[in-house]
Amino acid sequence: MARFFSLMLLTAAISLSLFKNSSAVDIIGSSKSIRDGTTLVSKEGVFEFGFFSLGNSKNRYVGIWYKKIPVRTVVWVANRCNPINDSSGFLTVNPNGNLVLSSRNKSVVWSTNSSKQVKKPIAQLLDSGNLVLREEEDLNSEAYLWQSFDYPTDTLLPGMKHGWDLRKGLNRRLSAWKNWDEPCLGDLSSGFDDEHDIYPESYMRKGKATYYRSGPWNGIRFSGSPEIKANQLFNGQFVYNGNELYYTYNLNNSSVISIIVLNQTNMAGQRLTWMPGDQSWRSYFTAPRDDCDNYGHCGANANCMISETVGICQCLKGFQPKSSQQWDVRDWSEGCVRKSLLNCQGIDYYNERRKDEDGFVELDGIKMPDTEKTWFNDSMKLKECRVQCLNNCSCVAYSNRDIRGEGKGCRIWFNELIDIKQISGSKQVLYVRLPASELGDTKGARKFRAIIVVAVLGALSGMILVGYYLYKKMMKGRNNKETWENRAREEDFELPLFSLATISTATDNFSVNNKLGEGGFGPVYRGTLEDGQEVAVKRLSLSSQQGINEFKNEVILIAKLQHRNLVQLLGCCIHEEEKLLVYEYMPNKSLDSFLFDQAQSKLLQWPKRFKIICGIARGLQYLHQDSRLRIVHRDLKTSNILLDNEMNPKISDFGMARTFGGDQTAGNTNRVVGT
Ligand SMILES: *[C@@H]1O[C@H](CO)[C@@H](O)[C@H](O)[C@H]1NC(C)=O
Ligand SMILES: *[C@@H]1O[C@H](CO)[C@@H](O)[C@H](O)[C@H]1NC(C)=O
Ligand SMILES: *[C@@H]1O[C@H](CO)[C@@H](O)[C@H](O)[C@H]1NC(C)=O
Ligand SMILES: *[C@@H]1O[C@H](CO)[C@@H](O)[C@H](O)[C@H]1NC(C)=O
Ligand SMILES: *[C@@H]1O[C@H](CO)[C@@H](O)[C@H](O)[C@H]1NC(C)=O
Ligand SMILES: *[C@@H]1O[C@H](CO)[C@@H](O)[C@H](O)[C@H]1NC(C)=O
Ligand SMILES: *[C@@H]1O[C@H](CO)[C@@H](O)[C@H](O)[C@H]1NC(C)=O
Ligand SMILES: *[C@@H]1O[C@H](CO)[C@@H](O)[C@H](O)[C@H]1NC(C)=O
Repeated sequence: MARFFSLMLLTAAISLSLFKNSSAVDIIGSSKSIRDGTTLVSKEGVFEFGFFSLGNSKNRYVGIWYKKIPVRTVVWVANRCNPINDSSGFLTVNPNGNLVLSSRNKSVVWSTNSSKQVKKPIAQLLDSGNLVLREEEDLNSEAYLWQSFDYPTDTLLPGMKHGWDLRKGLNRRLSAWKNWDEPCLGDLSSGFDDEHDIYPESYMRKGKATYYRSGPWNGIRFSGSPEIKANQLFNGQFVYNGNELYYTYNLNNSSVISIIVLNQTNMAGQRLTWMPGDQSWRSYFTAPRDDCDNYGHCGANANCMISETVGICQCLKGFQPKSSQQWDVRDWSEGCVRKSLLNCQGIDYYNERRKDEDGFVELDGIKMPDTEKTWFNDSMKLKECRVQCLNNCSCVAYSNRDIRGEGKGCRIWFNELIDIKQISGSKQVLYVRLPASELGDTKGARKFRAIIVVAVLGALSGMILVGYYLYKKMMKGRNNKETWENRAREEDFELPLFSLATISTATDNFSVNNKLGEGGFGPVYRGTLEDGQEVAVKRLSLSSQQGINEFKNEVILIAKLQHRNLVQLLGCCIHEEEKLLVYEYMPNKSLDSFLFDQAQSKLLQWPKRFKIICGIARGLQYLHQDSRLRIVHRDLKTSNILLDNEMNPKISDFGMARTFGGDQTAGNTNRVVGT
């Protein structure tokens, strides 16, 4: 019964509103006015314009709302911050062609400020939700004297332009209401800053602080938005035509109602769609969406990944946490710094490539970093872009601007890379500048050397970790009175000691020509021992903070991790301040250089592949079960499988590895690591 009643009421309400529609007007004529209590209704009855109040307040505002939606949804407000405190307000189109809002004492509360010459100006509410002032006879939208679409409040309606009108110097920004019952400007706003950048990004700001970025437009979408799916509700585009530079969208289905609103309460921009069935708005998309969208969540030079709803930060390749203590307790704010400095020699135009030239690693599947400190040129090719970057010491990365087709345009970033987020499916590539010593994965002549260096460094750091772990464990068990000498005398010391002279000879006195690269712990050299064996020598820099006793203990323990399918430590050398580690040299590069190279992959026949697979499996079995430590590698991939002369696989790069207790068979981790 009650239901029947409410149905009756609803029907009555609808017929009432229909009735009102038929008598409504959408125009205020020249020198005419409307008082509080009367409204304009657009031709098809989509929007209504007039006076309204919010909550229990008596304050009167003038604005535009959806006529057909029972939940009053105001999409534009004229006198946002100066309401009239009674119902004495009235609106007039004055002879100068301006719409003026006045109150009882005849004072002007709000006014448009067109200064064009006019004959017979009128105000009209259109079905798009645009309130326009125009000459009665002139329907051309370019000739409007004034339009509410040029002065958005918190809502972007379909067809509205978010961005610049360069002719008028007008920047159409959105700003949130202070509160649901107070349309005055809150401190959340959104807009495009740079009127000259035709691949811009919109910034959402809280006061003056950046709060969220859309990521730069890449020709298809904003790089921070997920891939647009088929069957879209709306069709968003970025327009640059010489006169204007703006984002706009249109709805695919004209009977659907959908808007973008900036909301101070939620601290977010939302796309809301009206659900006729539930008679409510449903949020379809929210920005920011997660931790990683919060501007600068990871500090500089780090990538943010979502894991179980929280944002986890990881330094970019070649970078390390600025403060590892804080990083360990998930305070990412200080971000990451370079492991080794850029060489910054620029390009040598006479030689093809300098030995010490900086290079780049490719990073894709990301939201491009903040473009505030960037430079661009849209006629440059990617190659020229690279040179542009190498020739400026402050440049840290470059990229195409437009990813359509072959890609075009050049943008280079300065100083730091801020606010990167992992976004699957994003194909825009960021080329991040690194010193030659940090390059592990670039194409070209350097690749193989670099892989060895990285592998050796990775193995070293991983093993040191593992070693330190075991060392601590052993120290717990024993009485902590042992010395290096004591243990060296014990049978479990198996690692050969090299003299400094031997290594010095092998590496031609640490000749620059033999230098393979430079890592966090110091340089790595290629060398040949007297018996002809080729080795990679890691020289711990004097500035390294490893204490001598710790170093010695670690060496002993690393020696325990030996298996023919793991990269092997051959020995070490300790001579006064000098601390050196000697690894086997791997001439056949890494497995990925075979698998993913067209010519090379043909050389690798099935029997060989099978042998490699078995070798990797044996290496893993050793790590997981047979070694005294249980080790989970956590970053096993083809570039971490090195191949010796006979194509025997050797697992390397234990940088991410983790040890388990002797009889532990499972563990939990809160961190995502590896690739
Ligand atoms: C409205 O404002 C006017 C001028 O500020 C003031 O004189 C008047 O008392 C106010 N009316 C009410 C009902 O608050
Ligand atoms: C007229 O009203 C406005 C606000 O509605 C107020 O600011 C102004 O002081 C009033 N002027 C007089 C003379 O009352
Ligand atoms: C009036 O003009 C000023 C500057 O020319 C502008 O900032 C302001 O937004 C305009 N106001 C309206 C209501 O058009
Ligand atoms: C903002 O969102 C909250 C919660 O969804 C809602 O109650 C409020 O009305 C919104 N405010 C505005 C100004 O739309
Ligand atoms: C609307 O969406 C449908 C289904 O995604 C698509 O086939 C159609 O082309 C779209 N229409 C317009 C005008 O974009
Ligand atoms: C447009 O939306 C209405 C209401 O949701 C729906 O009934 C209609 O089928 C849609 N039209 C098209 C072409 O998708
Ligand atoms: C942009 O790049 C083109 C092509 O390399 C070059 O001719 C032009 O001078 C560059 N413009 C600027 C402003 O650097
Ligand atoms: C590098 O770029 C910055 C920022 O545009 C500029 O100020 C500086 O002069 C450039 N340096 C060189 C060497 O071109």
